[in-house]
Amino acid sequence: MALRGSTGAPPHVPDLAADVGDILIAASDIRAKVSELGARLTEDYAGRQLTLVSVLKGALPFMADLMRAISIPVQIDLMEVSSYGGTSTETSGLVRILKDLSSPIDGRDVVIVEDIIDTGLTLNYLLRYLRGKNPATLRVCALLDKPARRLVEIPIDYRGFTIPDQFVVGYGLDYGEFYRNLPFIGVLRPEVYGRS
Ligand code: PRP
Repeated sequence: MALRGSTGAPPHVPDLAADVGDILIAASDIRAKVSELGARLTEDYAGRQLTLVSVLKGALPFMADLMRAISIPVQIDLMEVSSYGGTSTETSGLVRILKDLSSPIDGRDVVIVEDIIDTGLTLNYLLRYLRGKNPATLRVCALLDKPARRLVEIPIDYRGFTIPDQFVVGYGLDYGEFYRNLPFIGVLRPEVYGRS
């Protein structure tokens, strides 16, 4: 999550060990879940034309691990989007495409790979956008589902974990662009995001 509406104050220098409280999902549990999702996708898309479309930057570790847990041929593509406006912890729902698909997806079986579905606004936009490109099928694979904050219903075909309404970082998820490299998913201490 990028910090939006910056005040110009000096940026907080993160302390990876001190800033994260509870570990919500351990690295070993993420590995096991990614293997399970990869096996399901392998079975469901056997003999088909699977393209994984990931959304930078948060989904990068999940995408990298998930594609290697799939044992049928897949193609991948990457998009990057950002929300207009909003605050540091809220998305606005108005999405701007920073990087579009590199190749057409018409006639392909597409699975969007996301790290987290929070309000659902980003994915709601992306689903409409990608449907317009005429894929044969379009499904959603999300590592984390935070239903407490949902503003728009999203069909999640492949779900890793349902999590409570806590500010989580790690395994791709950021605060102020940091913490993405943590190998687990942890809860950011409130005093850290209270500083900005
Ligand atoms: C995160 C995440 C999703 C989106 C989910 O991305 O990767 O794309 O927010 O939020 P929503 O369901 O409320 O729309 P973010 O905009 O933080 O960018 P990032 O992936 O670069 O961290």
